[in-house]
Amino acid sequence: MEKRVAVLPGDGVGPEVIEAAVKILQVIERRFNHTFKFTHGLIGGSAIDKHGNPLPNETIALCEESDAVLLGAVGGPKWDQSPSEIRPEKGLLAIRKHFGLFANLRPVKAVPSLLQASPLKEEVAKNVDLLIVRELTGGLYFGEPSRRTENSAVDTLVYTREEIERIVEKAFELARLRRGKVASVDKANVLQTSKLWREVVEEKKKGYPDIEVEHMLVDSTAMKLITNPGAFDVIVTENMFGDILSDEASVITGSLGVLPSASLRSDGFGLYEPVHGSAPDIAGQGKANPAAAILSAAMMLKYSFGMDTEAAVIEEAVNAVFEDGFFTADLAMEGQRVLSTKEWTDKVVNEL
Ligand code: NAI
Ligand code: MG
Repeated sequence: MEKRVAVLPGDGVGPEVIEAAVKILQVIERRFNHTFKFTHGLIGGSAIDKHGNPLPNETIALCEESDAVLLGAVGGPKWDQSPSEIRPEKGLLAIRKHFGLFANLRPVKAVPSLLQASPLKEEVAKNVDLLIVRELTGGLYFGEPSRRTENSAVDTLVYTREEIERIVEKAFELARLRRGKVASVDKANVLQTSKLWREVVEEKKKGYPDIEVEHMLVDSTAMKLITNPGAFDVIVTENMFGDILSDEASVITGSLGVLPSASLRSDGFGLYEPVHGSAPDIAGQGKANPAAAILSAAMMLKYSFGMDTEAAVIEEAVNAVFEDGFFTADLAMEGQRVLSTKEWTDKVVNEL
């Protein structure tokens, strides 16, 4: 298969971890006889430096000509004083909005050899294999009016039936590829948008008799994520609840450096990026853990290119390298050898 990939390394450790992900994809190309055409573009601070714009038109054009986008991270202290309209993170918001990437997927899966880093008891964390499906382009973060005066402020939570339908459908489809369970999370005891959300889930589930659906309130979901995270398969929820719950879920298995994400629309086009930021404190030192970026590339193969086997092969290779006791600085315990970004990536290459 031939696929075009827009590669947007971004800032800080972004270029380091994206280089690693591309290297892994090139191994996959050879092993499975695919052709990936990688074209690099600028986003975030590096784009501000060159074009005065965190998402230049030529980057948008590059992504439009591509089948998927692989992104590192944006931001850093260098741009912290920038005026608000030309900040690096505006590039991220703009690309999600421009391409209508309404479904944000964050899988969280326990890796046995990393459980030592989890804040939860090992027996609680060890069975975790969940996927948060967060609505990304609607809700409170985009509702109008949004304004403040000296002594009052207003934000607006709006969802249309159509916006809910497409994210709920996406969650059901994804659950079909997994264990067939969906927890739909809302605040239906209080919010009108949540009542509509529940209504839509009830309608949609008629089309998915094979899927087990449970409605949960967001507050009790927050508790259950800590007490019994292994009980979840797919969690689908609106934008702000998803923002909070996905950060909560991200700490369950122990390390930011291993968590991938995808932002999708319905036609298979998607943007793939590690959950972590640009890590300016370790940038340029070869210390970054490339696992999150590599696993994001695996998600790209699975969700945008339908290459499930190839994605699984990458996941297995990453886990095998951890099982063999090879870690970057963020995960190495005292006395363990610390591998650089490149050394760790080469272990995965060898495994593949
Ligand atoms: P961060 O995720 O960049 O770093 C948090 C901590 O985790 C740091 O100590 C960092 O060294 C460590 N870390 C992160 N990724 C790592 C990796 N791959 N390997 C090893 N250690 C890793 O979050 P922080 O410090 O809050 O933000 C730094 C910059 O990144 C800011 O400018 C922020 O706006 C931006 N950011 C960008 C995101 C994106 O592009 N999606 C997401 C989050 C933050
Ligand atoms: Mg967040």
